[in-house]
Amino acid sequence: MADILDNLYELSNAHGPSGFEGQIRNIMRRELDPFCDNLETDGLGSLIGHFKGSDVSGPKVMMAAHMDEVGLMVKYITAEGYVKFQTLGGWLDQALINQRWIIHTKLGPVDGLTGIKTPHVMSADSRNQIFKRDGLFLDVGAASKEDAQERLGITPGDPVTPASKVSRMVGSQLLVGKAWDDRVGLAVMIEILNRLNSVNISSNLYVVATVQEEVGLRGAQTSSHQIRPAIGINLESGVAGDYPGTSQDESQEKLGKGPAIFLHDSSMIPNLDLRDLFVEIAEEEKIPVQFDVLSGYGEDGAEMQRSHDGVPSINISVPTRYLHSHNGIISLDDVARTVDLVVSVTKRLDSKTVNKLKSFT
Ligand code: CO
Repeated sequence: MADILDNLYELSNAHGPSGFEGQIRNIMRRELDPFCDNLETDGLGSLIGHFKGSDVSGPKVMMAAHMDEVGLMVKYITAEGYVKFQTLGGWLDQALINQRWIIHTKLGPVDGLTGIKTPHVMSADSRNQIFKRDGLFLDVGAASKEDAQERLGITPGDPVTPASKVSRMVGSQLLVGKAWDDRVGLAVMIEILNRLNSVNISSNLYVVATVQEEVGLRGAQTSSHQIRPAIGINLESGVAGDYPGTSQDESQEKLGKGPAIFLHDSSMIPNLDLRDLFVEIAEEEKIPVQFDVLSGYGEDGAEMQRSHDGVPSINISVPTRYLHSHNGIISLDDVARTVDLVVSVTKRLDSKTVNKLKSFT
């Protein structure tokens, strides 16, 4: 059983874009197994664990975090041996250019580079233009299409991920790395179980590592259907809005100021009593929390909320800078506070509390 820092490093460095979550599922299976009575997958590939300390007669609490990261998929190889791709999840065109990538082929990992045209050969006008994704390609060092296929093993459909490794920023609590969205949520989930394992909880807890969130919250939809939860808690990577060029109007989260409670995003509005319960317990436990009202975004909480006849749900996030790119930054302080908050709330989700959240009185 690894500690949370080891889990953050391993989960961020591992590769699993939407639809290709196998590596991440294996890590999660290994880490959840000691805490869960039963681990199963739904038909789409989300991993579902039933927490050992659960009061099985109580209403089901579903806690989710998604396994997939944004990435690419090989579309075809040109006659000259360059690889054209389809994006998986939301990328800015600018974030795709001149980056190192790993293509996961049947013969193993292959380095790729999204080359950028050199300014030496460009007119003044074209130097100011943004390169559109349709014109981009991966240079894999192949001499031809046949070379890319036969020597490197590249095939249409192969997944592609950023080639980024975690490092700790000097003298700080900050980690820089890829895929914090939502590997940080998974690491938080594992640590929550680790903490709950030593206490007797009177809630009936199901943890879910979902697939295909970045392409439309697909794994949360099927796993919510399978579990039929009474309450939904989503653990996400939030949107830090504390660096040059961002504004408070766009996002109110700041790194190092604790977990964020989403009050609004374009996919859901949280259950108000559940929101208030989180705020109340944070105050009692002296855990700093932030609020975020976003006009965009989308997260698995929305699928839990709208499953079956409706489920009181909330999205709790660890503030993250530079989402959906090769490298983002999170704070270990925020990670720890997020665990503290969700552990404290989960301990209180007994039948009486959950039924009250569902009563709208
Ligand atoms: Co996410």
